[in-house]
Amino acid sequence: MPSLAVNIAPRHPTGLHLMNPVLTASGTFGYGTEYASLYDVNRLGAIVAKAVTLRPRRGNAMPRIAEVPGGMLNAIGLQNVGVEALIREKAPQWAAWDVPVIANVAGASLDEYVTIAEMLDGVPGVAGLELNISCPNVAHGLDFGTDPAMAAAVTQAVRERSSLPLIVKLTPNVTDIRPIATAVAEAGADALAVMNTLSGLTVDLARKRPALASTTGGLSGPAVRSIALRLVYAVAPLVDIPIIGIGGIGETEDALMFLMAGATAVQVGTANFYNHRAPLEIIAGLAAYCAEEELDSIMDIVGAALPQSAPIA
Ligand SMILES: Cc1cc2nc3c(=O)[nH]c(=O)nc-3n(C[C@H](O)[C@H](O)[C@H](O)COP(=O)(O)O)c2cc1C
Repeated sequence: MPSLAVNIAPRHPTGLHLMNPVLTASGTFGYGTEYASLYDVNRLGAIVAKAVTLRPRRGNAMPRIAEVPGGMLNAIGLQNVGVEALIREKAPQWAAWDVPVIANVAGASLDEYVTIAEMLDGVPGVAGLELNISCPNVAHGLDFGTDPAMAAAVTQAVRERSSLPLIVKLTPNVTDIRPIATAVAEAGADALAVMNTLSGLTVDLARKRPALASTTGGLSGPAVRSIALRLVYAVAPLVDIPIIGIGGIGETEDALMFLMAGATAVQVGTANFYNHRAPLEIIAGLAAYCAEEELDSIMDIVGAALPQSAPIA
């Protein structure tokens, strides 16, 4: 049997060892518990939970999702139970599972990221952190992930105060993602997740207004896949930590493209909304692919599409 196992944090003392390279993406799989009655979530490589903030959040006003060609726009506004309730109510359920659950952390300031990370450190059931740096820094309104120095500062601050494997999730809403990726890797991230949603807008013709109450939202789904692939391909040769590819992955072929473009693992997001079994189908498809290609390990195809020389962005 070919091995689907991957380590998405080889630089970390314990590593973050997954049975297979298919994770569910933050915000599209709740706390995992919502899906546990639909199938055995222990078959997943890992689950990334909905973003957690210091205080509970009710999120943005409705409407906050809109369907668009090839995907959707969302402006949920980080609705979540808050870190205390997550530790009290969600983590004990995760601790009973075999599948690693990664907490996606969102802060309005550097201190908030650090405080949440410290609170989650050593909590049974929390296997790692994914920093969602597509959040505005209240100090000046810019997203943490749009500036190399700010992205590195939040990575380093969390790295110093947390013993957990640390994934940093990059935003595509920048002119050049490469200096941000290298700054975050140098600041101590164990892996990069590429990418979060792209900023977009759609108009409700009947109301003659933007369809979302918060005007703009994050575009996700098959429409963004080529962009996410371009970013993974651009970043992979520049860093020596694993990349987790995200964006429009719904089928085995999509996941294979990301692996060949340099990703060690993938996350399935929007596809969970139109085919809740998509992650399981991709895991089975990757196993079948390895068997057909007579590969010993799925790792054998990671980066297969990268040229020897540094690629263009
Ligand atoms: C409804 C919804 C909610 C999301 N919430 C979060 C979130 O809380 N934190 C985060 O880092 N990303 C969040 N995302 C972004 C996804 O995790 C993922 O990066 C993005 O949707 C691209 O992948 P996809 O095309 O497979 O959906 C959300 C996406 C959607 C569609």
